[in-house]
Amino acid sequence: MSIPDPPVTPNALTSAASASSPEPIAVVPSNVRADIPVAASWNWVPIRSLGPRHRERIAAHLIALEVSDRYLRFGYPASDAQISKYVDMLDFEQDEVFGIFSRRLEVIAMAHLAHIGIANPDGGQSMSEFGVSVLPRGRRRGFGRRLFEHAVLHARNRGVETLFIHALSENTAMLKIARNAGATVVREGSESDARLKLPPDTLASHVGEFMEHQAAELDYRLKVHARMVNRLFVAPKDLSIAQGETTRVAND
Ligand SMILES: CC(C)(COP(=O)(O)OP(=O)(O)OC[C@H]1O[C@@H](n2cnc3c(N)ncnc32)[C@H](O)[C@@H]1OP(=O)(O)O)[C@@H](O)C(=O)NCCC(=O)NCCS
Repeated sequence: MSIPDPPVTPNALTSAASASSPEPIAVVPSNVRADIPVAASWNWVPIRSLGPRHRERIAAHLIALEVSDRYLRFGYPASDAQISKYVDMLDFEQDEVFGIFSRRLEVIAMAHLAHIGIANPDGGQSMSEFGVSVLPRGRRRGFGRRLFEHAVLHARNRGVETLFIHALSENTAMLKIARNAGATVVREGSESDARLKLPPDTLASHVGEFMEHQAAELDYRLKVHARMVNRLFVAPKDLSIAQGETTRVAND
């Protein structure tokens, strides 16, 4: 059976229509998993740029989403094969993909910023589309909001003028993130389009992005190191497995 090629934009409906520190310190409720950071307004959450070497982890993240979430994310209930194809087709040169890692180095949340607009005379893109997903166990910790803020910073530093989100109208969480950021939301029946006008870049916005990038890289290295040390102490007999895994994640 042939699998239709999923469009490589954050949201399939749009395409059809348009042809560290260690973990942040926080008061964590008792029902919240300790290996996942929390993004309360006073917290910093490490957001890392993902590249071709992360395809496997990105696919694992998306395949872990339930059918209803896949529907919200892609605009259709993408099968595992369609997700794999989408991940294979991601163009990391053209677009940006960001992720939040758990202490176990899983991608707990990720966003895809696709540059879909016409190029500006200054070389930037006029419009980019944002798509995001957070694993159910990581939700309502502010990750969706933080990934959106990160995308805003990244996009404006590249001359993007408008951030675009296509969502189902039932997607309260996504539309809330957009509205809270000041986006204009236009509802057309079961689908909604949100547009956020971005301010031009400044020295501060570039410094802010640079600092975030450096801190997220440091955080990731610390997590890799902590995981390696943990493995060595907890199960010394698994030394070769630990070394293999460490080499793999260190290459990331
Ligand atoms: C949409 C999604 C990314 C939100 O991620 P999240 O990390 O849980 O969102 P946040 O914790 O940052 O919450 C953002 C806002 O939405 C609200 N919110 C979150 N989940 C909500 C829900 N189920 N119902 C109502 N509001 C919700 C939060 O209270 C917060 O509002 P506030 O800042 O005014 O308090 C996540 O639910 C998801 O992955 N859904 C499936 C895929 C999807 O819908 N992607 C978006 C389409 S591209």
